[in-house]
Amino acid sequence: MTALRRTLGVCYYPEHWPEAQWTEDARRMAAAGLTWVRIGEFAWGRIEPEPGRFDWGWLDRAIATLGAAGLKVVLGTPTATPPKWVLDRHPDMLAVDAEGRARKFGSRRHYCFSHEGYLAESRRIVTELARRYGRNPHLGAWQTDNEYGCHDTVLSYSDSARQAFREWLRGAFPAERGNGGDIGALNRAWGNVFWSMDYADFDDIDLPNLTVTEPNPAHSLAFRRFSSAQVARYNRAQVEIIRAYSDAPIAHNYMGRVTEFDHFALGADLDIASWDSYPLGFLEDRVGASAEDQRHFARQGDPDFQAFHHDLYRAVGRGRWWIMEQQPGPVNWAPYNPAPLPGMVRLWTWEAFAHGAEAVCYFRWRQAPFAQEQMHAGLLRPDSRDAPALAEARQVADELAAAPEVCPAAAPVALMFDYDADWAWTVQPHGRGLAYFQLVFDHYRALRRAGLSVDIVPADTRDFAAYRAVLAPGLMHMPDDLKQALTSSGCAVALGPRSGARDGQFTIPVPLPPAIPGLDVTVARVESLRPDMPIPVRGGGAVRGYREELETALEPLWRDVSGAPVAVRAGRATYVGGWGDDALLDRLVAELAGQAGLTVTPMPRGVRTRDTGAERFWFNHNPHPADTPAGPIPAAGVLRQPLQSVSTGSENT
Ligand code: GAL
Repeated sequence: MTALRRTLGVCYYPEHWPEAQWTEDARRMAAAGLTWVRIGEFAWGRIEPEPGRFDWGWLDRAIATLGAAGLKVVLGTPTATPPKWVLDRHPDMLAVDAEGRARKFGSRRHYCFSHEGYLAESRRIVTELARRYGRNPHLGAWQTDNEYGCHDTVLSYSDSARQAFREWLRGAFPAERGNGGDIGALNRAWGNVFWSMDYADFDDIDLPNLTVTEPNPAHSLAFRRFSSAQVARYNRAQVEIIRAYSDAPIAHNYMGRVTEFDHFALGADLDIASWDSYPLGFLEDRVGASAEDQRHFARQGDPDFQAFHHDLYRAVGRGRWWIMEQQPGPVNWAPYNPAPLPGMVRLWTWEAFAHGAEAVCYFRWRQAPFAQEQMHAGLLRPDSRDAPALAEARQVADELAAAPEVCPAAAPVALMFDYDADWAWTVQPHGRGLAYFQLVFDHYRALRRAGLSVDIVPADTRDFAAYRAVLAPGLMHMPDDLKQALTSSGCAVALGPRSGARDGQFTIPVPLPPAIPGLDVTVARVESLRPDMPIPVRGGGAVRGYREELETALEPLWRDVSGAPVAVRAGRATYVGGWGDDALLDRLVAELAGQAGLTVTPMPRGVRTRDTGAERFWFNHNPHPADTPAGPIPAAGVLRQPLQSVSTGSENT
């Protein structure tokens, strides 16, 4: 593996500040040890104030000023904020919500991915930008748009989306001859005979909103697949233009727990994955933490949520990933917005590097005294004095200068994450609050509680040679070649619940699931459980939320208190017929580690570890000091251990 140089950066909006301030801002950024400055992603209104009238002068000078200070520019395409005149030209470009209401002008992301007129406007502005700056010596990277999917903008129920969905379905169900689709094939695949829902023509098909009761799940899933493809198509249009004018790498800034589009599919067109990490902002309503954990980690953030996304986006970026926006202080948009504990900005930054980030950029340089994000901290206060995060960023910059380069290392454990499975669970959760993301995240947490480093892998992975253990919970559609690849991988494999529960068109397959080669188990019946009815498992732990009745001739690995099988195992493949609570998932990880010859190191609450090729990192997410096998760590502290000095058990051999 090649060693990486780790760098820091910041998000900056020159158009928000008097030009006289830019030189001093740039000087202070460089003095703080920052390398990157991301600009431009919301500046369409200043670049093209009127249709066809471009004002490049200010942006030319901003880039020159930043570059002269030694900074490298990440230039954002400004398509997340089309000015009002773009909307006036295309009044029907707005995304429409599930209630049929158009989303208005006055904030951002007010466009529908399926609107051809807006796509053409986007191509036009990206062409102008790429032509002007593609070879600029200060340009180091590009960012397309900003946070696809933010503010619930992937699914749009507009007329443009309806038209495009019909075309997409024609492509998904092609006629044997000619260009049209085979409507009979769609009717059969979706089971439209149920409730007389057959269509005579693709043009009869509407979007799956505002139906009297739930739409056909096959219809809903198809709409989600289509919507995801529209985002990738939109992004690809920008990428193709940028590549024609520039050799600089292209990134997009993804988000935490946004699953409405397939990031692996979109990321395949990009050079770098990046994401926007707001640990305190996420804690209340995206993590799924208990009230007690929300209180305990209120100023530190969840100990696993950021790490999960680091590992996810490392996979999306095929090894290359950044933090494009790092929370520097209180934000404005979460239910509660506390300030981080001193040391946490440094911890979050080092944690990203420990997971292989190439760069961490803080959002934003100076707190804006105007508009929507007045309550959002920056590295500077609105009066330009240092905000607390600046010193922590500078400390990391100094530490980086003395630190070994990152040598990314493959983790011993792979955890599969599949956006299509997330949509399938969303379409048919079968019980309130049952979400695929949470299921996978629960497994991830259990692996981290055991001190294991994890690689997240996409569902089209077939080569598991780098791993000792693979977990693929909840993969509702599981192609046969994936089942085959997993069971013949030689890894300790954990599957279930709901593995292979549906075919590609959302039908229950026969033979009944999970139909795993060499593993005699059939899911005879499924049920969802109220939160207050967990089913204890003999030996510890419980099944909660979702449970399967397993038929098997094998002696079960685990039984519940009534004696019913909960998990079965044949060779190295284990099938778990339910959603385990933390104690049961800890047992599952211990079982797999035992089979795979991995050492489990139980982590104290809030303490986490991660290996790179050169170092073992320890992070204390607690508001109090903690002990680790490597020694004590202060509250919000980071401990780095050279890997040679670690007694690693067998996992690093
Ligand atoms: C991100 C976004 C930024 C800014 C930030 C505030 O979602 O990309 O533009 O709004 O949140 O935390």
